[in-house]
Amino acid sequence: MTSNMEMIGRDEINDLEAILSITNTDVDAVSHAVNANPDAIFTWDYSRSRPALVKLYEKAKTSQWNATTDLPWDTDVDQEKVVLANMMQNGENGFFSGDVDLSGTPFAKWGDKEWIELGVQSQNWTLSQFLHGEQGALICTARIVETVPWIDAKYYASTQVMDEARHVEVFAKYLDDKLSGHYPINAHLRLLLDDIIGDSRWDMTYLGMQIMVEGLALAAFGFMHQMTTEPLLKQLLRYVMSDEARHVAFGVLSLKEYYDELSAAEVRERQEFAFEAAVRMRDRFLQQEVWDRMGVDVKEATKLVMLDETRKIFQSMLFSKIVPNCKKLGLLDAADGWLRQRFTELGVIQFEDWTDTGEEYSALDEVAKDRASQAAAGA
Ligand SMILES: [Fe+2]
Ligand SMILES: [Fe+2]
Repeated sequence: MTSNMEMIGRDEINDLEAILSITNTDVDAVSHAVNANPDAIFTWDYSRSRPALVKLYEKAKTSQWNATTDLPWDTDVDQEKVVLANMMQNGENGFFSGDVDLSGTPFAKWGDKEWIELGVQSQNWTLSQFLHGEQGALICTARIVETVPWIDAKYYASTQVMDEARHVEVFAKYLDDKLSGHYPINAHLRLLLDDIIGDSRWDMTYLGMQIMVEGLALAAFGFMHQMTTEPLLKQLLRYVMSDEARHVAFGVLSLKEYYDELSAAEVRERQEFAFEAAVRMRDRFLQQEVWDRMGVDVKEATKLVMLDETRKIFQSMLFSKIVPNCKKLGLLDAADGWLRQRFTELGVIQFEDWTDTGEEYSALDEVAKDRASQAAAGA
C-alpha cells in the first residue's frame, strides 16, 4: 500500500502547512529543465486500424483556426471595468461567498478598491496558469507523437501539437495586450507537470495531461466562458474549448484500449497517479501567489478559502469531466474501488455518471459552427 506521504508528500490531504510549504524557488529563471528518458517508438504498422482516432484526426484537420485572424483582437479591454462587471453579474466581492465570516480578518477592512485589485490579480494569475498549462500540453503532445506505439495516435497527436501552440499563443497575447501582468507557474501545477513529463511510460503522459490536466482545463474554460462579460475572452475560450474537447476525447479513446490489457498492479499505479494529480490541481485553487502579491497573510487567506463551502462546490465542478472519464477507463472501481474512495474524500465522486468526453467533441465544435453560419450568410 502506497501511503499519502509517498504519493503527495503529506499524510493529511488538507494539511495547509504542508500545502503552503511547496513554493517556487526559481521564479526568475527563464527556463526549467525536466529530465526524462522515454523511448521514441517507430511503428512499421501503417494500417488505419483505430476508426475512432481516424475520425478524431479528420475533425482536427478541418477545425484548425488561426489565432491571428480568427479572433477580434481589436476589442478594447478595460480590465478593471471587466472585473467590476463580472462582480456585478456574479455577486458579492467577486471572491468569497457569503458563507465565510470575514469579520476580524484583513478582508473586513477592504473596500471596492481592494476587491477590484484582487479581481485583477486573480485574473492575471488564472490566465497565467492557463498559459503555463498550455505549454505543458504542447510539450506532452509532442512527446506523445514520439512515444505512442500506434500510427493513428501519432497522426492525431501531431494535430494537437499545433492546437497547443495556438493556445499558448492566444493566452500569451491576451495577457500581454489586454491584462496587466504575468505570474510565474504555480508551485503545485509545476510539481504536477514535472511528474507527468518526468515519467517515461507513454500512457502516463496521456493520463496526466489528456485526462487530468485537460479534463480540468475543459471544465475551467467552460466556467470562465460562462462567467466573463468580456467578448474577446469569451470568443477565445469558445475556440480553445472546441480544441480541448478533442484533446480529452483523444485521452479517453486511446487509454480505454490500453488499460483493458493492464495487470491489476499496473492499473493501481495509474489510480495513484490520477489521485496525486487531482490533489495537486486542488492545491492550486488556493492561489497562494495572489495573496502574497496582495500583501495579505497567505496562511490566513488560504485558511478562509478552505472554509468557503460555496466556493468548494464550485471548485468540485472542475472535476466534472475528470471523474466520468476515469470511470470509463476503469480506474474508479479497480482495486476494490480505491480511486472511488479517494474521489469521495475529495468531494468529487458525484460526477461519476456525467457524460464522459469520448464523443462530446463533435457537439462542441464551435469553429465548424461559425464557418457553417458564415458560409450560409455568404450564400
Ligand atoms: Fe490547450
Ligand atoms: Fe489541450
